[in-house]
Amino acid sequence: MTDTLTLRTPDDWHLHLRDGDMLRAVAPETARHFARAIIMPNLVPPVVTGADAAAYRDRIMAALPEGTGFTPLMTLYLTENTDPDDLARAYGDGLITAVKLYPAGATTNSASGVADFDKVRPVLERMAEIGCPLCVHGEVVDSDVDIFDREAVFIERVLDPIRRATPGLRVVMEHITTEQGVEYAQAGGDDLGATITTHHLVINRNHILAGGIKPHYYCLPVAKREEHRLALRRAATSGDPTFFLGTDSAPHTDANKLLPCGCAGCFTATNTMSILAHVFEEDGALDKLEAFASVNGPNFYGLPVNEGQMTLTKGDVVVYPDKIDTPDGPVTVFDPGFALHWRVAR
Ligand code: NCD
Ligand code: ZN
Repeated sequence: MTDTLTLRTPDDWHLHLRDGDMLRAVAPETARHFARAIIMPNLVPPVVTGADAAAYRDRIMAALPEGTGFTPLMTLYLTENTDPDDLARAYGDGLITAVKLYPAGATTNSASGVADFDKVRPVLERMAEIGCPLCVHGEVVDSDVDIFDREAVFIERVLDPIRRATPGLRVVMEHITTEQGVEYAQAGGDDLGATITTHHLVINRNHILAGGIKPHYYCLPVAKREEHRLALRRAATSGDPTFFLGTDSAPHTDANKLLPCGCAGCFTATNTMSILAHVFEEDGALDKLEAFASVNGPNFYGLPVNEGQMTLTKGDVVVYPDKIDTPDGPVTVFDPGFALHWRVAR
């Protein structure tokens, strides 16, 4: 039985760190295990200019204990007013790694997102020219489209037309949740990648809704049917370079989760690596965890893989805190619903 696993230090290709007190409370949870993370720009107000990204990067570094070897990879929030020159300058200077597209109204803090995709065409063309990747929240927001169909409809109505109209644009389908997402990503060639979260490998929609409503399992895109979760598991554990880890760890205080209209997001930064080792072992694919968590992401982004190593060991039950305390109130750590035996040793 394998009970020790060593891999290159992993990265998180989709992370919400927030700001202020929350940032200071949650950033160490990621920096403990991950060397780099793509930092989502959906602050209030969002990170829209190169100057915003530089200031946010400095706040993130200041929030981490001295000597933490963590690199935040910054992103800009694409709006209908994004200045292509500012974007190109920020990318050229190495200040940003990607740009994030939120359809307006799709998820938490997405009010400034894109409603008319024709308006961002010149920016997307510039991004294709300079090689700057576009990270896409792939859900339509039309109220007549069922929430469980919004990803598949987005691929057909928005993503595929954008990619056809903008040859050479590098796109990451963020946090895919469906078989259709897996299939489209797989068929997309070298310019298309997809991130998969920790929680979507573990829960399906029954976990949210059967036997009582579980607000801590509510995130966007919402978890789908079991057959979709299994498609995500096959994709993540296949070693296919298209797929890589983006936890979408998205902290909200319990007070904001447990409301009549509660916030979307699962906070998985703390125990992701233990959960992933469990999942990959269960699928007989521990040897593919390094590809998913540490290799495929940097390869897609054209960045070097990390030189450092992480060792996980399997043993007695590993107990993680149920909650992280923050000055804003407690944040519940994602509960996978099974005992964890893989611990990050170093
Ligand atoms: C994210 C958040 O809280 O910022 N929530 C979520 O459910 N994933 C936004 C997002 O990535 O959609
Ligand atoms: Zn997210």
